[in-house]
Amino acid sequence: MRPLLPLLFLLACDPPPATDASDSTDTTDDTDVVPEVRPALPIIPDAEDLDEDPDVVRVALTAAPHTFTIGGQEVEGYAYNGGVPGPTIRAKLGDTVIVEITNGLEDPTTVHWHGAHVPYAMDGVTWTEDPIAPGETFTATFTATHAGTSWYHPHFDTARQVDLGLYGALVVTDPDEPAVDRDLVVIADAWGEHDARTPPEGDNHHGLDGAGMTWTFNGAIDPVLDVEPGERVRLRLINASNTGYLDLAPTSGARFIAGDQGLWAGPADHALLGPGDRVEAELVVGGDDVGFDNHAYSLYGGTVGAGELTARLHLRPTAAGAAPALADWPWRSPSTSPDPGRTDLRFVLQGDSAGEHWTINGETFPDVTVPYVPIGQDTLVEVRNISPTNHPFHMHGHAFEVLSIDGVPLPDRPVEDTVDVGIRQTMRLRFLADNAGYWMTHCHILPHAEGGMMTVVEVGE
Ligand code: C2O
Ligand code: CU
Repeated sequence: MRPLLPLLFLLACDPPPATDASDSTDTTDDTDVVPEVRPALPIIPDAEDLDEDPDVVRVALTAAPHTFTIGGQEVEGYAYNGGVPGPTIRAKLGDTVIVEITNGLEDPTTVHWHGAHVPYAMDGVTWTEDPIAPGETFTATFTATHAGTSWYHPHFDTARQVDLGLYGALVVTDPDEPAVDRDLVVIADAWGEHDARTPPEGDNHHGLDGAGMTWTFNGAIDPVLDVEPGERVRLRLINASNTGYLDLAPTSGARFIAGDQGLWAGPADHALLGPGDRVEAELVVGGDDVGFDNHAYSLYGGTVGAGELTARLHLRPTAAGAAPALADWPWRSPSTSPDPGRTDLRFVLQGDSAGEHWTINGETFPDVTVPYVPIGQDTLVEVRNISPTNHPFHMHGHAFEVLSIDGVPLPDRPVEDTVDVGIRQTMRLRFLADNAGYWMTHCHILPHAEGGMMTVVEVGE
């Protein structure tokens, strides 16, 4: 995602509409106002570090069938280490990360490190590598080269396996960034209203129209988390849904500070988060609820109706108190060199409104032409969406600067690995090809990727 408006706009705007049911109580009973009952935000456990070396993080991860509950309904799904979301793997910049992945499923699987710059053989894709067979263990080893909020998920039978609950966060912290009282991971997922929630074949998350979705945050609907007033929280939000877009507005006391690959050039007051995308927020807790409100957004044309409120995620102070000051983040300085104008890689995203065929450059994965990029090349990419829906464009193994949209340069040039390309939009991206391998490049709406909207870029020596 990318920041859309500077924070100044937020300050000038009206506050978001009140959403507490308690605000609209009738007055027939004036003795007590019944507080709205909302579930507590479940906290994702951190993965246990099995290595004593402070610069090595070693984690055991097992994918296995798992039954869990969403909104009171049972789902026969999958989980990593028995939890949906799976445990948060935390490392600091420069650490060696070793993950022993055991496949406890009846099907092959892989683990892909979405957003991390890992060696190709660790990327969890099956272009040239084999998946992990049932009962087998594969050890992924890589260095945490970039700070930011990444996530992990299978890249084999992806739409079904992710849909069934296989996802978790990989957080790499930069010790030079300001400390916070709480570093909180929240993973969002969307559930189609009209589908059975017990999925024999996965795909239980359907509902491409944003209005018909039920969102969960760490598995809970409209959750709140009790916090002490005075806390500063860094909240890392991952959209793990197969098809759903989050269109998020912060309440007062919250602002977006970072995207897929760490801090932006400045704060933002709006986040559009397609599948696979991440955003980080700073929340300072005083006497009122702090968090986000989500508004219905359809990948077939944006805001649905009047952008009805469809989900909420709030921190709730346990007492009255004052909010701490906002932190002084070391904002990234965007590059300023002009777009050289040439195009090294061109991706045209195409599809039919029936939603049956999704292609890149007219090709359907795996029958694709693989372009070659020499290692070390400053690579200019043009992505053009001529299809009737949005597509969150994602590249493995690298991150890119977003240079312009429809010819309009972005002065803040956010660095991302997943970026939403709107209907009829043309986006120019730039990346340094510094990681050799065959890198999947695809739409992260997983049924689109599965339908063929995926290709491969070879970065070679
Ligand atoms: Cu998150 Cu190729 O994927
Ligand atoms: Cu798509």
